[in-house]
Amino acid sequence: MTKIVTELNNDIKEEILKDNLIIFPTETVYGIGANALSEKAVNKIFAVKTRAKNNPLIVHLKDKLEIEKYAIISNQIEQKLIDAFMPGPFTIILKKKEIIPSCVTANMDSVGIRIPIHQMAHDFLELVNVPIAAPSANISSRPSGTKVDDIKDEFDSLVPYIIDNGEATIGLESTVVKVIDNIPTILRPGFVTYEDIFSLIGSCNIAPGVLTKLDNNTKVESPGMLYKHYAPKTNCLLVYSSKIDTLKQIINDNLDNKTIIIGSSKLKDIPCYHFLNYGDTLEEISHNIFSLLRLADKYEANQIIIEGVKKEGLGLAIMNRLIRTANFNYIEK
Ligand code: TXA
Ligand code: MG
Repeated sequence: MTKIVTELNNDIKEEILKDNLIIFPTETVYGIGANALSEKAVNKIFAVKTRAKNNPLIVHLKDKLEIEKYAIISNQIEQKLIDAFMPGPFTIILKKKEIIPSCVTANMDSVGIRIPIHQMAHDFLELVNVPIAAPSANISSRPSGTKVDDIKDEFDSLVPYIIDNGEATIGLESTVVKVIDNIPTILRPGFVTYEDIFSLIGSCNIAPGVLTKLDNNTKVESPGMLYKHYAPKTNCLLVYSSKIDTLKQIINDNLDNKTIIIGSSKLKDIPCYHFLNYGDTLEEISHNIFSLLRLADKYEANQIIIEGVKKEGLGLAIMNRLIRTANFNYIEK
């Protein structure tokens, strides 16, 4: 039986040191963590999530002083990004040191490092005192877990503890960045935006695959972009137009009598099976979207039509997730 707790205890540390998994809160999404230095523990993550072995895990550390125990900071740009965005919802891909087992990084010579800014996450990392490899707490391909109620059944009896700290504030996973040929390259957009990075460094690229389907000829920097992701079981259609009339027209053209609409309040008057309001700011949408996708699945609808947003600022991260949620089933006019 999984125990859901709201405070840390020494048994949690014992479980981590016995190679078991713990679900813990962060500012982005809940993580399912294991001792990153133990191959046995890390392999359990892949098994429980049914995660592809060639999709590397992020290593979570309690503070910046720990980074150079596990990775090498190779240049000034990496250092600047670390100084500006860590701790926070930001993951930097660095050259890995030998001490990190290759199963964590899917045999790559780099490792993703993240230092959460969330107090409970920090306290958890300090308590266990080992680096924690952790993907988002969800079965692979499902929406990431942003509150315990959404995920407790998925992982029941598979983890000894879930540390509950309410809803994750941001609701989307961290921005993943790798410096390639001296240019910060976004492998996965998040709360730290393209604009934030560009204004700090003066350059920033977005990796192929962030908003498009990768083909077989493109070099894959982030294996996570290859997989079906963030998807409810119900079929989804993503729609976007900057003009409200056009947007409503696209929705009406695709509506049937069992369609759920997930969108902002400007769509609330469209007659449909169920309307789920995801909020009116990018922060609200990011906070609510994964939980609403899980909720929408419970209605046994024919389809979910999701309103898209402009691909700017946090909107890029939202669209990166929603395009995959909809399995690239996307209409923009
Ligand atoms: O906010 C987050 O990042 C959450 C919380 C729990 O920290 N974690 C998370 O982990 O989203 P996960 O495993 O769901 O996503 C990790 C992403 C994947 O797309 C993976 O391919 C990429 O980071 N990644 C990890 N290590 C990498 C590496 N060495 N090189 C390139 N991409 C890497
Ligand atoms: Mg994930």
